[in-house]
Amino acid sequence: MIDFRALADKYGTPLYVYDFNHITERYEQLKKAFTGRKSLIAYAVKANSNLSVVSHLADLGAGADCVSIGEVQRALMSGVPKYRIIFSGVGKRDDEIEEALKADILLLNLESEAEMSRVETIAERLGVRARISIRVNPNIDPKTHPYISTGLHENKFGVDIETAKRMYIHANNSEHLEPVGIHFHIGSQLTELEPIREASMIVADLVRSLLAIRIELKFFDVGGGLGIVYDDETTIEPYDYAQAILGTLHGLDLTVICEPGRFMVGDAGWFLTRVLYEKVNEGKRFVIVDGAMNDLLRPSLYNAWHKVEVFGKSGNESEADIVGPVCESGDFFAKDRPLPPTEHDDLVVVHSAGAYGFVMASNYNTRPRPAEVALVEGRDRCIRQRETFEDLVRLEKMCL
Ligand code: LLP
Repeated sequence: MIDFRALADKYGTPLYVYDFNHITERYEQLKKAFTGRKSLIAYAVKANSNLSVVSHLADLGAGADCVSIGEVQRALMSGVPKYRIIFSGVGKRDDEIEEALKADILLLNLESEAEMSRVETIAERLGVRARISIRVNPNIDPKTHPYISTGLHENKFGVDIETAKRMYIHANNSEHLEPVGIHFHIGSQLTELEPIREASMIVADLVRSLLAIRIELKFFDVGGGLGIVYDDETTIEPYDYAQAILGTLHGLDLTVICEPGRFMVGDAGWFLTRVLYEKVNEGKRFVIVDGAMNDLLRPSLYNAWHKVEVFGKSGNESEADIVGPVCESGDFFAKDRPLPPTEHDDLVVVHSAGAYGFVMASNYNTRPRPAEVALVEGRDRCIRQRETFEDLVRLEKMCL
C-alpha cells in the first residue's frame, strides 16, 4: 500500500508517482511470453520518457521505440544500446534522419516512398547503408478509440501492401538501403486479440512473398498497443498475445519486436492532486482540485476514464465532477462520479496515469509541469523536479 499522503506532503501536488517494481513485472511478463523465439521488447518511449523510467527499462534489457530524434537521444542517454533503438514516425525531418544514421541505431522504420527516397539520399551523402523496415498498414479495424486507431487505410500511418512490396524491391536493389524488417501497429489500448492476429497474418504473408523473391528480413515488428485496465475492460494476456503472433510465423526465422508503451508503465503510475474547494451550481456538485488538463490531458482529449479515489475517505457519496482551475470547460478528470464529501487539502488519486500522462503535459495557463517521483525498492526518489516560473519564461524575451 503506497502512502500517497506522505508523498504529496513531501513533494507537493500535482504530482506523478511511478512504481518501478511494477514496471519490472510488466517487462518480465511480456519477455517471458515470447520465450522460445528471439524477441526484443522495444519500449515505446513516447508513453513516459523520463530518463529514469527509460534507464530502468534499459537495465532490464529493453530496447526503445522512438518517434523523434529527441527520443533517440533520450534512449541513448538512458543507456539503451544503439542496436536496440528503432526510429519510427510518419514525418521525420532530414536532420533527424541524418542524426539517426550517424548514431547507427538498429533501424529506421519508414512510412512512405517519399521518406525512403530522403533516407536513401542522406545515406548516400553520409556514405552508409541505412537499415530500414517498412510500416505496413494492414487495413484492420483495431476496435479502439478513433484518435488512437492507426491500422486503417483512412489513417495517415504506413503504406499499403502493394506499395510496401515496391519499396522492398527498390530498397533491396539500393546500395544505400538495407531492408531488415517489417512493421505494423494497428492502434493503442487494444483489448481484442483478433485484430492483432489478423494483422500479423497479413504481414507474415507479405514476408513470405518477399522471401520468394529473395528478400530476407530479420525483424518482425508488431508495434505496441496492448491495453490495460482503466475501468472494467477485459485485457489481453501477454501469453495469448505472443501465441497469437507466433502462430502466424510458422516457417519463418524472425526476431519478433514489440513496442509496448502503455502496458509497461500505464498502471505503474498515479497522478496526485489536492482538493481546493467544493461547490454546487444549481444542484450540480464540483470538486475543484489543484491539478488540471495541462497536467493530465487524457480525460479532456479522449474523454478517457480514469479511476479516482479520495485518499483515505469513503461513504456518504454523491455524484460530482472533478475539475481543474484551467479556464476551459474541457478541464476535468472525472464526470458524475460518486465521491465522499471532500475538504480543502484532501488528496485525490487518479489511477493508471503512468502512460501518456506527464509526457502530454503542457504549460497552458502558465502552469509549471508537475514533479515526478519513482518508488524504487521501498524508497521514493524525485526523478523530475517541479518546474518553476523561471523555467517557464527562461526562453522568452521582451523585445520592447
Ligand atoms: N508503436 C507505435 C508505432 C505507436 O504509434 C505507438 C503509440 C506505440 C508503439 C505504443 O503504443 P502503446 O503500447 O502505448 O499502446 N496518447 C494516447 C496514446 C497514443 C498512442 C500513440 N502511438 C493515449 O493517451 O491514449
